[in-house]
Amino acid sequence: MNTPPNTELFDTADELARAAAERVIGLLARSCLDRKAICLAGGSTPERLYRLLAHHSEAARISWPNLHLFWGDERLVPPDARDSNARMTLDALGAAPIPLDNIHPIPTTGLTVEASAAAYERELKSFFGASTLDDARPIFDVVLLGLGEDGHTGSLFPGQPQVDERQRWVVGVPQAGQPPAVPRVSLTIPALSSSREALFLVSGKGKRDAFAAMARGDDRPAGRIRSAGRVRWLVTRDVVS
Ligand code: 6PG
Repeated sequence: MNTPPNTELFDTADELARAAAERVIGLLARSCLDRKAICLAGGSTPERLYRLLAHHSEAARISWPNLHLFWGDERLVPPDARDSNARMTLDALGAAPIPLDNIHPIPTTGLTVEASAAAYERELKSFFGASTLDDARPIFDVVLLGLGEDGHTGSLFPGQPQVDERQRWVVGVPQAGQPPAVPRVSLTIPALSSSREALFLVSGKGKRDAFAAMARGDDRPAGRIRSAGRVRWLVTRDVVS
């Protein structure tokens, strides 16, 4: 199978997660900004990375007090629910010394998806001190992303109008295109593309067709992601064999 540019293949999901952890640590350690920002993904593949990051021998290079955590998408569930992406991430990162003020989850309590999206967009704009996205000044040091079997990324599902949003940074997604069937809130393609590097983590045979579509350059939400630096694909071999 052909692969998109900047693809690296790994025998196992654990090897992929180790490589991703090293890449993330390297990117964050190299960034000379006082305040660093990472945009995190839900899903089982990133979860392995988060578990590794907390205990990685090089993790001290990250400078946790300067690192701010944001999320690319969230399910509209209470913050402590099993399906919450923020809960999963923070549980997996467990031991990492992250100051509470540096944690910026997408708000869900008592909000509609539209109100949640508007609140998170306000928070991003205020944190980054910008009202528009500028390719020359990406907001995130690194954006982590997953690839759904249908080619979705974040909670931007093929065929849904949110995929075409160009102005807003965050949108409500009333109907999820895959389980769990709860409404979602997602950063848009322009916001997820505002990074110094984007890192897709893809594992499992079920991703074969979606990844082949990426390699062919077919139009799927995940294939629309750009970065000021590279869009890298870390992929297990079962996806391409
Ligand atoms: C979500 C995720 C979603 C995920 C992909 C891949 O909230 O469901 O953000 O976009 O990243 O579905 O998930 P896996 O890594 O579990 O295959």
